[in-house]
Amino acid sequence: MNILRLGVLVSGRGSNLQAIINEIESGTVKAEIAVVISNKHKAPALERAERHGLTTVFLDPKSVAGMSDPRQAYDQKLLETLQHHHVQLVVLAGYMKIVTSVLIDAYKSRIMNIHPSLLPSFPGLHAQQQALDHGVKVAGCTVHFVTEGMDTGPIILQRAVPVKEGDTADTLSDRILKEEHGLLPRAIQLFAEGRLKVEGRAVHVRDA
Ligand code: GRF
Repeated sequence: MNILRLGVLVSGRGSNLQAIINEIESGTVKAEIAVVISNKHKAPALERAERHGLTTVFLDPKSVAGMSDPRQAYDQKLLETLQHHHVQLVVLAGYMKIVTSVLIDAYKSRIMNIHPSLLPSFPGLHAQQQALDHGVKVAGCTVHFVTEGMDTGPIILQRAVPVKEGDTADTLSDRILKEEHGLLPRAIQLFAEGRLKVEGRAVHVRDA
């Protein structure tokens, strides 16, 4: 049986990438990371990947500056890199760049993102601070398929955490992040097992 080939896109710290690596190494997630790609040269996530002997690529956004549509041109390069490594599922793990139709059309229902809120509440940046500012009592995280539009695609899995009296963005983020580290590998494993079916906005999980 062919093992699912992942392309993980990162921009920063890489704790979600680390969670995926850990679950693969322990055998809980039956997939392999074909390539880790970053739009940030010095992303700590790239160092983590290298420590585990993974193939890493830094794709410099400046390399497409001046083109008529730099975002699409960037995603064309990204797509070529993913295809070169025979990637079957793209995982956005703290990838801080909007993906365009170039990638979305080529990998329809095969791009996942992790977001630190219970979508559709609080899409975009600083989701944990948005949740605090709104005064919600329950926060959480979401793994969803990526479509055009910010954090709006079909929801695969969600986990909730309580918001506690005196929480700051940091304390709430830490509580959510612990759940993210379980949720994203779980979604990847469900995909690897062929148990996710998208119907309109809904993602059905077989034998959940
Ligand atoms: C996570 O909170 C994730 O939900 C969001 O960006 C953060 C990335 O953290 N999309 P890390 O780089 O995986 O540690």
